Amino acid sequence: MPSKKIHLIAAARPNFMKIAPLYHALKKRDWAAPEIVHTGQHYDVNMSDAFFQDLMLPEPHHHLGIGSGSHAEQTGRVMMAYEKLLVEKRPDMVVVVGDVNSTVACTLAAVKMNGNRPLVAHLEAGLRSFDRTMPEEINRIVTDSIADILWTPSPDGDENLLKEGVSAQKIERVGNIMIDSLEMLRARIEREDALSTYGVQKRGYGLVTLHRPANVDDKKTLESLCAALVRVSKDLPLVFPVHPRTRKNLEKHELLETLRHAPGLHLDQPIGYVTFMNLVFNCRLIITDSGGIQEESTYLGIPCLTLRPNTERPITIAEGTNRLCTVDALVTCVVDIMGAEGQGARKPALWDGKTAERVADSIQRRLGDG
Ligand code: UD1
Repeated sequence: MPSKKIHLIAAARPNFMKIAPLYHALKKRDWAAPEIVHTGQHYDVNMSDAFFQDLMLPEPHHHLGIGSGSHAEQTGRVMMAYEKLLVEKRPDMVVVVGDVNSTVACTLAAVKMNGNRPLVAHLEAGLRSFDRTMPEEINRIVTDSIADILWTPSPDGDENLLKEGVSAQKIERVGNIMIDSLEMLRARIEREDALSTYGVQKRGYGLVTLHRPANVDDKKTLESLCAALVRVSKDLPLVFPVHPRTRKNLEKHELLETLRHAPGLHLDQPIGYVTFMNLVFNCRLIITDSGGIQEESTYLGIPCLTLRPNTERPITIAEGTNRLCTVDALVTCVVDIMGAEGQGARKPALWDGKTAERVADSIQRRLGDG
């Protein structure tokens, strides 16, 4: 009988590809009983269920059904619901990933447990954009300051934590777990034929994802962004799966029709992991404000323009293919990339598809295997 109960917290789209490899790695260890706790922060079929299927995850063992809301509502609801589950189930360890509201909420609930407190571990610790206007930065800082174990993806993560006074004993560099998902599903990703669905050619299109409030909530910014995308799409067809937050704002500001009428722009609903990664593998360049896509593009050597003034993943610029870009400079940046030879990108150390095994080893050491 596996003796160590480990809760893996999954909440929003970018979390699923971080818990999947760890779930599969722990299932193979006879001492570990991993259980998936889905907070329900993302709940649409194409924002959640599709990822569970692609990543071969079972139905969540526990579902908190939180849904959307303001930051305080969402964080508070997750804390209240997860505290109840903690009291009832008494896990030995809680693993939180990434930087979404549920990450900080479950961490807070778990570290304040009275008696039989579980160990709390943060996977993807230490990332900092140094921009406290980003809700994710607040989530990262709070989570890292109270979690017991901090698994970092790259040396900058360790340095940030040490500068914040975190004890070195808590920090373990394990690499980038998202790369494990990519490698786990590489054969299926390569077999997928997303290009014919969108009528685009290999290396003949750009891939767009946008959802950050700073880009999509403000009408003026969104208008400029749409104008730039329409302009780019005249020379380079763009595939753009639209996040629900972005869709709502495009509809509200009557911009969706403008995009729909641009012949080179292929809009879609958010798409599952395997299809999306097939589009990443084959595109000419990526335009995004996502965190994870900056890493996946670096790993694959695909040029990436990140529409943000900063990134918590500087290694994707220093060693990879990422470049920060403003909305105003977008068209010029695309032209630059189109005219350039392939970039000489390096794969950061420990981004090797073996992070989940290192994390499972770490858990075994920390919990003891009996
Ligand atoms: C959240 C994370 C962000 C992450 C992103 C990935 C926080 C603070 N933000 O932002 O870090 O990069 O997920 O997508 O945790 N909605 C749906 N269906 C869903 C989920 C959401 O329609 O399945 C709608 C909600 O009604 C809401 C909007 O999308 O209006 C935003 O959802 P929310 O979870 O608040 O934040 P995201 O922008 O997705």
